[in-house]
Amino acid sequence: MEAGRMQTITMRQAADYIDQTVIIKAWVTNKRSSGKIAFLQLRDGSAYFQAIVVKADVSEETFALAKGLNQETSVKVVGKIQADTRSALGYELLVQDIEVIGESHDYPITPKEHGTDFLMDHRHLWLRSSKQHAIMQIRNEIIRATYEFMNQEGLIKVDPPILTGSAPEGTTELFHTKYFDEDAFLSQSGQLYLEAAAMAFGKVFSFGPTFRAEKSKTRRHLIEFWMMEVELAFVEHEENLQFQERYVAHLVRNVIDHCGLALKTLNRDVAVLEQYTKLPYPRISYTDAIKLLNDNGFDDIQWGDDFGSPHETFIASQYDRPIFIVNYPKAIKPFYMRINEEDPRTVLCADMIAPEGYGEVIGGSERIVDFETLDENIKAYNLDPSAYAWYLDLRKYGAVPHSGFGLGLERAVAWLSGIEHIRETSPFPRLLNRIYP
Ligand code: 4AD
Ligand code: MG
Repeated sequence: MEAGRMQTITMRQAADYIDQTVIIKAWVTNKRSSGKIAFLQLRDGSAYFQAIVVKADVSEETFALAKGLNQETSVKVVGKIQADTRSALGYELLVQDIEVIGESHDYPITPKEHGTDFLMDHRHLWLRSSKQHAIMQIRNEIIRATYEFMNQEGLIKVDPPILTGSAPEGTTELFHTKYFDEDAFLSQSGQLYLEAAAMAFGKVFSFGPTFRAEKSKTRRHLIEFWMMEVELAFVEHEENLQFQERYVAHLVRNVIDHCGLALKTLNRDVAVLEQYTKLPYPRISYTDAIKLLNDNGFDDIQWGDDFGSPHETFIASQYDRPIFIVNYPKAIKPFYMRINEEDPRTVLCADMIAPEGYGEVIGGSERIVDFETLDENIKAYNLDPSAYAWYLDLRKYGAVPHSGFGLGLERAVAWLSGIEHIRETSPFPRLLNRIYP
């Protein structure tokens, strides 16, 4: 480093620059001032922090400029980093000089309360708030820790296509599009392609956008969401569950260890999250779960029905960590799941249900290996056999038991962040009736 040359830093790096004079580029989120001192709340993308302008220490112009700064003005600030035990970050900036980079006038999101529709209409600006910043940091950490875990476990990332001709999760929720003269869909899940890749490379994963034209307007549903999918050759049902619980515990551990400030901003109780790192996660069969519900006054559900969110919430509330509900009825699950020989009405599948009402975060299963069974299912589920010929091929040439699962990124983010609604977990969520901004 050149002597005498001032360093431009981000506020996250403040600990390495105590008592040094630095340059920080930031936006003004708020300010208050008296005759002698101005407190600027700044955001530089790495953190939210306070800058203090003392009238006696700066030029008259600088103090006047500081007092007149509007919300969201961008600034270049020169100042000295000092420890500040009162702030969450632990550091503040004692200002020497300020230069305006870009002016801001009448910023629509003010510190007062705004309604959800207003905020969603201004999502492109709402992202600047400290809560949104915290949620995106947790999302980023889950993505980072996912790649870390998958690489540690020796999986290869395989990217399935987004434009497809198959419908792994049923035909009712497909987004149709034209593929030149052919009909095509936006991918609901990369699973079928991952199965082909698992037969080539053994252990594979994918992480990308998926689309569901679901007419659901709930706190758990997005139209476009990111799914992390895994497919493991030679792995049967129970080993699949063990992989999932180790993966989810790894995500929780890393969010706790690397997102302390974000969790604090969100008022997320870390002791509660610690509980979710404890393995194993309990397994409860679908059949026992129905009995549990019926024994506890839920008479709106019987064997064969799918769970609604009140049911999932109640079942999960019996435990202190995520659970697996295993072996659902074949009739309410997709065509590719392997039959459970111990109760052939059911399949070898599991949904991981998160605690605290967050519901299903993972859906997975062991897959059908036998050619005839799969062929019959494709017809029985009214799927177009010609679109699945390649998928059936996988059962002809050295087929092996294999299993996999998909984790919904945004559901995991909502759960670990402890926020009410999934819409805040995506930077620009696609919701029923909303594609703006
Ligand atoms: O349970 P799903 O539909 O499973 C599959 O798509 C399998 N093919 C995955 C596999 O085995 N490779 O979806 C998996 C997860 C759900 O558990 C949920 O977390 C999330 O994806 N998900 C959604 N997230 C947000 N909005 C939606 N509309 C979602 N639908 C599913
Ligand atoms: Mg599911």
